[in-house]
Amino acid sequence: MTIRSVVKGVGHYLPERVVPNSEFEATLDTTDEWIRTRSGIERRHFAAEGETTSDLAVKAALAALENAGMSVDQIDAIIVATSTPDLTFPSVGTMVQQKLGMTRGFAFDVQAVCAGFVFALTNANALILSGQAKRVLVIGAETFSRIMDWTDRSTCVLFGDGAGAVILEATVGTGTTDDRGVLGSDLNSDGRYREMLYVDGGVSTTGQSGKLRMQGNPLFRQAVEKLATTAETALEKLGLTGKDVDWIVPHQANLRIITATAARMHVPMGRVVVTLQDHGNTSAASIPLALSVGVERGQIKPGQLVVVEAIGGGLAWGAVVMRW
Ligand code: UT7
Repeated sequence: MTIRSVVKGVGHYLPERVVPNSEFEATLDTTDEWIRTRSGIERRHFAAEGETTSDLAVKAALAALENAGMSVDQIDAIIVATSTPDLTFPSVGTMVQQKLGMTRGFAFDVQAVCAGFVFALTNANALILSGQAKRVLVIGAETFSRIMDWTDRSTCVLFGDGAGAVILEATVGTGTTDDRGVLGSDLNSDGRYREMLYVDGGVSTTGQSGKLRMQGNPLFRQAVEKLATTAETALEKLGLTGKDVDWIVPHQANLRIITATAARMHVPMGRVVVTLQDHGNTSAASIPLALSVGVERGQIKPGQLVVVEAIGGGLAWGAVVMRW
C-alpha cells in the first residue's frame, strides 16, 4: 500500500497596502521602467504597522481550511516556512496554532529562506509517510518589508509581504506517478554561497534582526542553473521529464529567471504560473501564493502534474513534483 500526501486545500492572504513601482521613484534613484524590465515586478503588498508574519499566516491558513472544507481540529501538524518570524522564538508555527485555537498536534518552523516552502512541503510529506500525521497544514509566510534597507535600490524594490498555505492529507495511492499527491522531491544547499544573499544581523551576532544584502547578478546566474537542474533531477527520479509537466510553479524572484529556467526545461511559458508582477518576491510565501492564485485563475486543475522549484539564501534550493 502506498500512502500519498494529497493537496486538499489551498489559500493565500496579501496585506491590504499595495505599493506600485512608481512609489519608489520619490525616494530612490530608480524608475518603474527599470524595475519592470529587470525583474518583471509591477507592485507588491506591504504589511501594516503591527501586522506580523503569524497574522498573515493565520489568514492564509483559514482560507486553505475553507477551501479544503476542513476544520482546524482535523489538522495534526503545522509547518511554517519563514525567515521573518514575529519573534526569535517561539516559532510562528505555534503562534499560528494558538491563533487558530488548536490545542493538540504540533507545530514548528522551517527556515530555508526563499526555498523554505519546498523544504517544508518535503518535511510535511515525510511526516505523513512515516505515520506521524494524517493532515498537515503547510504555510509560507513572510514580512520581508521588515528587513529591507530602504536606501538600497538593488534590493528594496524587489520584495513584498504575503502568505500562502496548503493542506496535505494522507491518501491511499497505487504507487505510480498517476497518483495524486506529492510524488518526489530534490533538496540541496551549499553554504559556500552565503555571501550572495544574507541578512547582516542576528541573535548571536549583532543582537538586531539586520537588513537583507544580495549580490543580485551572480545569484541570478546560480539561480537559473540550479533551478533547472533541481527540477529536472526531481522529475528524473520519477522517470518523468519536462514534457510531462502541466505547470511549473516557480519561486517568484525575477521574470527573467523564471523564463530562462522554463526554457532550459523545454517547458513553454504558457505552462508556468507567474504572479510576481503583483506580489514581488515574497520569499517562502511565493510558491504557496502562486499555487493558490493558479487554482483561483483556473490554471491548476486536479490530476495535473505540478513542479514547484525555489532557490534562496544559504544557498538552499530544491523542487517538489506533485500531482494536484
Ligand atoms: O529570492 C532569492 C532569489 N533571488 C534572486 O535570484 C534574485 C536574483 N537577481 C536578480 O533578480 C537580478 O540580478 C536583479 C533584478 C537584482 C538585478 O538585475 P541585473 O540585470 O542583474 O542588474 P545588475 O545587478 O547587473 O545591475 C545593473 C545596473 C547597475 O548599475 P551599473 O553598475 O551597471 O551602473 C545597478 O546599480 O542597474 C543598477 N540598479 C538599478 N537601477 C535602477 C540596481 N538596482 C536598480 C534600481 N533602479 N532599482
